[in-house]
Amino acid sequence: MKRFGVLTSGADAPGMNAAIRAVVRSGVYYDLEMIGIQYGFQGLIDGKMDQMDAASVGSIMQRGGTILQSSPSDVVFTEEGKAKALQMIKQHGIDSLIVIGGKESLQAAAVLEEVGVPTAAIPATIDSDIPGVYEVIGFDTALNTVMDYIDRIRDTASSHEKSSIIEVMGRDTGNLALWSGLAGGAENILIPEKKEDLDYIVEQIKQGPSRSKRYSIVVVAEGTVSGIDLNERLKQEAGIESRVTVLGHTQRGGAPTAADRILASRLGAYAVDLLIKDQSGVIVTIKDNRPEALTYGSVHAKTVQVDEDVYNLSSRLSI
Ligand code: F6P
Repeated sequence: MKRFGVLTSGADAPGMNAAIRAVVRSGVYYDLEMIGIQYGFQGLIDGKMDQMDAASVGSIMQRGGTILQSSPSDVVFTEEGKAKALQMIKQHGIDSLIVIGGKESLQAAAVLEEVGVPTAAIPATIDSDIPGVYEVIGFDTALNTVMDYIDRIRDTASSHEKSSIIEVMGRDTGNLALWSGLAGGAENILIPEKKEDLDYIVEQIKQGPSRSKRYSIVVVAEGTVSGIDLNERLKQEAGIESRVTVLGHTQRGGAPTAADRILASRLGAYAVDLLIKDQSGVIVTIKDNRPEALTYGSVHAKTVQVDEDVYNLSSRLSI
């Protein structure tokens, strides 16, 4: 009987539990022995793992976070860490490893694949910052969470005609800010990929009142400028004082949306399907509504491209 290991790594994302459930239940369906590795790659090195069965993933589908716990993935980037991970995989008789996580976690999976461990990676990150990967678990939930906060803040901003700056996560990527800003009808969206537009947008915010804007909602991606610094700049340059809301970890938690649960279920099952057919070294995603396997090559690209059309649309609609 083959043994498959599964771990979650890096920042948690809503839908990781649904992916664990799909992996474990698919493994059980194929009569595999499923091993849940706790605390990501560090837990693998420390030998923290237990067998999982269909019942052990019951009632987790709707929960945010990860029941397997997580930790940073960079431990396997050192020769020592890589060797220890490899040794534990051999010692515990793990034939294949499924890694659920963001860009760095996928890079860590690629490191183990290179030294002969068959791996499949399931992308899960609220940042949606994996080059070439179309659908990632957690993004839709975070998007809905941010949109909900924009709506709530707009109620107050419009009632009192006060401006608001909402700082959104995304590390050095602006996808979450861009898409949530579009969904929430933000007057301005600032993202790191368009840093060259920063002065222009600041100018636009300053001109807001002369365009009959009684208040504005500015969504700023954390990788562009902090909400507090932006507020300071607007205060000094235009006398505009805004409320600053830093959404922080509220964006990572919460029950996954139906879209994320379904995506996680499909990707988890597909990862197992590929590994039992000895197809490893893959990132699983969905393209054109079909599961698709990508190679690890793309995770080494430096940045993800922002959707120019969506960016232009958001400016057009906020006139
Ligand atoms: O990668 C997910 C993410 O939430 C980023 O958007 C953010 O920059 C980072 O993790 C924050 O990490 P931490 O909570 O460890 O500071």
